[in-house]
Amino acid sequence: MIFGGFPYIKISGLSGDIVRDAENILLGNGRPKTYAHVHDVAEMNVRIGRMYGLDENKCRIAGYLHDVSAVIKPADMLKYAKENSMPLCEAEERYPFLLHQRMSRIAAAEYFMISDEEILSPIEHHTTLKENASAYDMALFIADKLAWDQEGVPPFYDEVEKALGGSLEKAALVYMKYMEDNGKILWPHDNWKRAMEWLKGIIVR
Ligand SMILES: [Fe+2]
Ligand SMILES: [Fe+2]
Repeated sequence: MIFGGFPYIKISGLSGDIVRDAENILLGNGRPKTYAHVHDVAEMNVRIGRMYGLDENKCRIAGYLHDVSAVIKPADMLKYAKENSMPLCEAEERYPFLLHQRMSRIAAAEYFMISDEEILSPIEHHTTLKENASAYDMALFIADKLAWDQEGVPPFYDEVEKALGGSLEKAALVYMKYMEDNGKILWPHDNWKRAMEWLKGIIVR
C-alpha cells in the first residue's frame, strides 16, 4: 500500500466518500492549500466536462485525487519509483516532484480503489499530458492549469479559456505553447514533448 510505505503519512480509515476521504488525507497531513486547490480543480473539471459531454462524477473524482500524493516527499517519490522499477525520464530524475502525477494514480488505485481508466489516466498525466490523450485527460490537464495552485489568476487564463471554446486540443496546446514561449519549462518531460507534437499534428489552423 503506497501510503503505508511512508511512516510520516497519517492515514485514517476510509469513509467511502471520496471527497471526504481526500479531504481527510490532505488536511490530516498538513496540506490545506492542496485541498483548496483540488477542490477548485474538481469544480473546474466538472465545468469543462459539461462543455464536452463527459461524466461529471468521473471529472469530480479525478479533480479531488489528482494531487493526493502531495503528502509524499519528492525524494521519497524517486526512491519509491526506483524500488518499484518504474521507468523514469530525465525530467523525473532531475525534478522528482514531476513523479507526483504517477504517484497520485497509484494512490487513487491502491488506496481509493479506483479502477476506471477515465479517472486514473487523467490523474497520471495531469502535469505533462500525453500523446493520444482522451477528452478526460485533456479536461483535467486544462482544469489543473485554470484553477492553478498559485496566487491570483494565471497569466494564460484568458487565452486558454478562449481556446477552450474551440476544442480541448486547442486549449491544451495554447497552454503548452505559453509555457514554452515564456521559458517556464524546467526540463521537458518525454510525455509533454510527445503530447505537443501530437497536438500540433491534429490541430489544423
Ligand atoms: Fe499536480
Ligand atoms: Fe494540481
